[in-house]
Amino acid sequence: MMTRRNPMDVIEGFYCSQTVWALHRLGVLPRLEDSADVTALAEEFVLDEQLLSAVLDFVHRTTDLLVREDHRYRLAPSCRPYRRIAFQLEKFLGAYGPVIAGAAAVLGDPGTGPGLRDHPSLARAFGQLEPRSPSLTAQVLRAWGVTSLFDLGCGAATLLVELATADPDFRGWGADASDAMVSAANQRISRSGLDGRLRILRSDVRELGGLITRPDVEDVQALYGRSIANEFFADGGRSAVDVLTELRELFPGRLLFLEDYYGRLTHRPPADGNHRHALLQDLAQVLSGQGVPPPDLPGWSRVYQAADCTLVKAYEGHNDDISWFIHVLILGRQPTTNMPPSPADADGVPVARSHALNGAADAAEAAG
Ligand SMILES: C[S@@+](CC[C@H](N)C(=O)[O-])C[C@H]1O[C@@H](n2cnc3c(N)ncnc32)[C@H](O)[C@@H]1O
Repeated sequence: MMTRRNPMDVIEGFYCSQTVWALHRLGVLPRLEDSADVTALAEEFVLDEQLLSAVLDFVHRTTDLLVREDHRYRLAPSCRPYRRIAFQLEKFLGAYGPVIAGAAAVLGDPGTGPGLRDHPSLARAFGQLEPRSPSLTAQVLRAWGVTSLFDLGCGAATLLVELATADPDFRGWGADASDAMVSAANQRISRSGLDGRLRILRSDVRELGGLITRPDVEDVQALYGRSIANEFFADGGRSAVDVLTELRELFPGRLLFLEDYYGRLTHRPPADGNHRHALLQDLAQVLSGQGVPPPDLPGWSRVYQAADCTLVKAYEGHNDDISWFIHVLILGRQPTTNMPPSPADADGVPVARSHALNGAADAAEAAG
């Protein structure tokens, strides 16, 4: 069941998010992976000790982020490692916070929403992710025999680096529209010594047709997109159909793996259970001009059919208050002859993901 907030909860939520965000950006929260007293923290971060003491006391009393021992604070065990929390804060407060804060203006002029999304914050969120390996996505792709991949909206190239590290024969390409993400991706690739096998293009996925440098269709066995398709639902899905149609024309017969989430806001009847994470994501999507994606498999299937693509498999799960999926499509009606056959063991992939937050390669990232 969803918890519905009373007016004082609403006010408390705002005060909590602002103080937690301040402590995060100042570096105080990450520092509290080790315990520290207020005096030392104030000195280290050049902050007013009395005010810091009050803010930490407030966050300690109103959230489960901190534990206190005498005058010392540290992150609660459930908030460590901190990068899992940092991912959510950077994404929901850093990247989408300005969009939500600007709701009054966006409601009057929706065209201003997309410009309020803070792309560097989104790049920071995804850039610092260290997914568990092998990730569920990698297991699915391996089960389908994928050894070359074009990752659409590749973000910080987390998946490409994981796949290339695990398989010396793997070759990958990524495309992303954000300069900050492309730079985060290239840094990750260089750090991993994979420059020779992975290539990142700075491109909008809607403009791949005009790109001379895009990978050759013969070289790409499959395409993949995590949390990219959900961007194209502000017009009821017409843009999503257009994007898929163009991909089908550019890469006919190739497999496309879409990892994403089922939207909840405005869809009726409301699904049972707790969908807090999905509702947060939906609101961020709506106000930033991306729209709410379909709520279930039939809804997404209609988009695939309209683009003349064939759904061949759906992996689904629900955790961290969000329902996510990996849909496997053929771009067209027939697979190309060199496409790997549908694997018998694809059914054996463990789809119930129990790990929390960004581990939700996972669910959290499926809804970016
Ligand atoms: C939520 S992030 C997910 C990143 C990556 N797929 C992952 O799961 O780690 C969505 C990514 O899509 C990129 N993106 C959004 N719209 C795009 C578009 N029209 N063309 C290309 N990239 C886009 C964003 O810059 C961002 O890097």
